[in-house]
Amino acid sequence: MEILGSAGNYLEEDVQALAVAVFKDEKADEGFLKELDTATGGIIRSVIESEELKGKEGDTAYLHLGGGGGTKAKRLLLLGVGAREDFKTPQISQFAGAALRALRAKNIKSIAIVPRAEGDAAKIASAAAEGAVIGQFDPDKYRTVDKEERTVDRLVVSIPDADAEALKRGAERGRIIGESVNFTRDMANEPGGYMTPTDMAERAREVAGDFGLSIDVLDEARMEQEGMGALLSVSAGSEQPAKLIILKYTPRDRGDEQDKELLAFVGKGVTFDSGGISIKPGENMELMKYDMTGGATVIGAMRAIAQLKPPIPVLGVVPATENLPSGKATKPGDVVRAMSGKTIEIINTDAEGRLILADALAYAKKLGATRIVDMATLTGAVSIALGDVNTAILGTDQELIDEVIDAGREVGERFWQLPLDKEYSKQIKSDIADIKNTGGRKAGTITAAAFLKEFADGISWAHLDIAGTAWGDDAKPYRSKGPTGIAVRTLLNIVERASRRNGEA
Ligand code: BES
Ligand code: MN
Ligand code: ZN
Repeated sequence: MEILGSAGNYLEEDVQALAVAVFKDEKADEGFLKELDTATGGIIRSVIESEELKGKEGDTAYLHLGGGGGTKAKRLLLLGVGAREDFKTPQISQFAGAALRALRAKNIKSIAIVPRAEGDAAKIASAAAEGAVIGQFDPDKYRTVDKEERTVDRLVVSIPDADAEALKRGAERGRIIGESVNFTRDMANEPGGYMTPTDMAERAREVAGDFGLSIDVLDEARMEQEGMGALLSVSAGSEQPAKLIILKYTPRDRGDEQDKELLAFVGKGVTFDSGGISIKPGENMELMKYDMTGGATVIGAMRAIAQLKPPIPVLGVVPATENLPSGKATKPGDVVRAMSGKTIEIINTDAEGRLILADALAYAKKLGATRIVDMATLTGAVSIALGDVNTAILGTDQELIDEVIDAGREVGERFWQLPLDKEYSKQIKSDIADIKNTGGRKAGTITAAAFLKEFADGISWAHLDIAGTAWGDDAKPYRSKGPTGIAVRTLLNIVERASRRNGEA
C-alpha cells in the first residue's frame, strides 16, 4: 500500500472513497460538517438528522455520492470516533484501521482519510498511517480457497493546510511502525512447523541485513560455553536446536560516552510449547505456536528502530527454543544450573519461559544492558487476572515501570502493575536447590516474575506478561483477530522518549 500525506483540500483528492471522522453530537449545520454537507448535496444533514450516526465510537454510515461534483470521490464513509477532546494518537490509529477495513470490504482501492484531529501534523499522520497498515493485516496466510484478496493500494492521509514536510515524515514513520507491528503479528501467527528457533534466527538475520543491525546468534555449543543450563534444559527434549538471537542497534556518529546506558529488550521465543514432560492437555494446544510472541515483539521493535534511527543504542535478546517431550527431555525433579550460577529445581517442565529468560537476562547483562524490559507469554494466570485488556507489568525499578505505563498510554496500549513484594519469593524456595521453577497455585503471574527477579539483580528491570493480550480471540473494527502485536508500539515509544530526554541532557 502506497501511503501519502496531503495538505490540500480533501474534497479534491483523487480517490475512490473519503473516510471522515465524526465527533460525538456534531451538528451538520456548522463548521466542517456543513462544508462537507454542501459539497455532497445535503447528504450529511440527512444522515445526522436521521440519528443514524451520532458520532459515538463505532457508528458508521457508508454513502454513495451522487456525483454532484463537490467531491472527486464517489463514496463516503463517516465513522463515529467519540468525543473530540479524547481523539488522540490511539483513537486516530484505530479510526484509520477501522476506515481501511470497512472500505476494503467494499472493494475500494484508494482512500483519503480525514482524521480532523488537532495538533502536531506529523503525529497525526503517523498515527493514521500506522493504524491503516495494522488494519491491512489478516491471519489467513495459508488459506488457498475463498480467500479475501481485497487490498487497498493507495492511502492518502489528508490534513488540510499542514506542513508538507511534517506530513511526509509522519506518514513514513507511521508506515514503518505499522509494518513492524504486522511483522511481529505475522511471526506470532506462524505455525510451529514454519517458525522453529532456526527460522526465527533466520528472520532476525533478514531484518538485520535489510535494515542495518548487528546480529549474533548463539548455537547450543556456545550456550554450553556460557553455562546456560536453564535455556538448554528446555531445548533438551527437542530435535530443533535452540538459538539465542542478539540484535543490536548502534546510532551513527556518536561517541561511546553514552554507551554507559544500554536499554535492552528481551523476549520469550518458545516456538511451540507442548509443556514438555509435564505435557499440556490437547484442547487449545495449537495456540501454543504463539508462545514466541515476546521474541517476535523484540525483533519487530528492533526492525522499526533500525529504520527510525534514534540517537541511543538498543539491544534485543531473544532466547528461541521448542518445549517438547522426548527421551532426552528434562524431567520434573531435575536440577539445572543457570548462567548466573543459581541452581534451579524443575518442578514443572511447562514453566519453561522463565527458564529461558533467566539465561537471556544474564546474557543481556553480560552485554552491558543497564535497563531491561522483558516480555513473554509467561502465564495462563495473567488472563484470569487481567483478561485481554491490560498487560501485566512487574519489576524492580518503579521509575522504569511508570515509564512503560506512560509510554503505553500514549500509544493506546494498557499496562497494569502487579505487586512483587519479597514475600512472594518464599513460594519459589526449593528444598534441594536455590530456587524452583513454579510457585504453586497462588499468584502465578507474580511468582513467575519473582523467579525472573532472581536473574535481574543489580539492574533496572521491568517484565511484561503478554499471555493475555498478545492474541485476540475476536476481531475489532480496526484489526483482525489473532496476533495483536501488543507492546511493539510501547517499546518504540520508550525508545523515542528516552531519545528526547537524552537530547535535552
Ligand atoms: N506459555 C505458557 C503460558 C500460557 C498459557 C500462555 C496459556 C498463553 C496461554 C507457559 O509456558 C506455561 O505453560 N505456564 C504455566 C506455568 C505453570 C506450569 C506454573 C501456566 O500458566 O499454566
Ligand atoms: Mn509452558
Ligand atoms: Zn510457554
